Amino acid sequence: MVWNWIKAWLFKKDAEWVHHSTLKLVKLFACLPFILRWVSGTPSQKKFSSETSLNALKTNCMNLDFQHPLGLAAGFDKNAELLDSAQSLGFAFIEVGTVTPRPQPGNERPRLIRVSQNLALFNRMGFNNDGADVVAERIKKFRTKIALKNLPNTLKIGVNIGKNKDTTAQLAAQDYAMCAEKFAKLADYLVVNVSSPNTPGLRDLQNIKSLEEIFKAVKEATIRQDCSKLPILLKLAPEIDPEQLKDLIEAADSWGVDGYVLTNTWGGKHKGFTGGWSGQPVAEYSLNSLRYARTATQKTIINVGGILTPDEAQARLAAGADLVQIYTGWIYAGPRFPSDIVRFLTQSKS
Ligand code: FNR
Repeated sequence: MVWNWIKAWLFKKDAEWVHHSTLKLVKLFACLPFILRWVSGTPSQKKFSSETSLNALKTNCMNLDFQHPLGLAAGFDKNAELLDSAQSLGFAFIEVGTVTPRPQPGNERPRLIRVSQNLALFNRMGFNNDGADVVAERIKKFRTKIALKNLPNTLKIGVNIGKNKDTTAQLAAQDYAMCAEKFAKLADYLVVNVSSPNTPGLRDLQNIKSLEEIFKAVKEATIRQDCSKLPILLKLAPEIDPEQLKDLIEAADSWGVDGYVLTNTWGGKHKGFTGGWSGQPVAEYSLNSLRYARTATQKTIINVGGILTPDEAQARLAAGADLVQIYTGWIYAGPRFPSDIVRFLTQSKS
């Protein structure tokens, strides 16, 4: 009820302004986690370790222990500003990024638009981010704080990496390797993002030859950092057809890729702008990609795209996802959405 009033007010404002204001507010309350937990309905960490129903949601994949299978999708916290608050907001893991080697401003505004009647967002952000050095420093600071305070390291951090806009396709692998080198010791897993529709030419890298070159460059970078076991995943577009997806996955499995993030946004147009659709428009495609991918691989699949209700999250896990992520659903359903999903999952397990 209260959320509906707040939402009606927020949805009158510019979507990107609301996004940045929310980030600021959450950061302000990071030192008062009980307030964030109260607003989001998230159980305390004590409950997570003691309650049998919550314990049943523990998920191990890629040799990582996740408190439960729900994470925050890439693009919301591009610059690692929510690490202190992610768990209080209800997430077991967060995918920071997309981060590029050098900072870049992204596209001109407007670049984030709500299309409420379709429960959708349309974005053409263009990898606006603070760059690998600054983001790595933030993650390092967070890790150091956890270690100094002797806190349990329960939040898993994925880092989603990309190439700068002005890096040519021929030099793309170098950008990915540069990021991998920076984040190898800091991330729990890396995601090679070749599927954003908002960086010209990026999606052309979704072919076996380019992906092999990028993956090998990333792998070598992690080996140079003595992190050869760091999981490396590929994030793919929902438009890839089933046969092509199967071929890509079979090839990637053979190189030693650890998993897949399915899917990114659906490329399209809105009011004359080119960008990507998330939320309801991508739901069916994301689910289909998950289903096809699951027939082709036993590796980890993180499914994302159009999870707008708790039972949809449950359905994706039932269809073979190891973990699920949300973005647009959180915007529409509000702050209690992550904890609603977790509660629903505990109930359906018992
Ligand atoms: C995204 N997404 C995204 N993905 C990615 O790999 N790197 C990124 O930088 C971004 N940025 C981004 C910005 C905005 C505003 C949105 C809405 C989305 C895609 C996101 O992670 C996810 O794959 C899709 O949004 C589909 O999930 P939902 O939103 O339907 O739950």
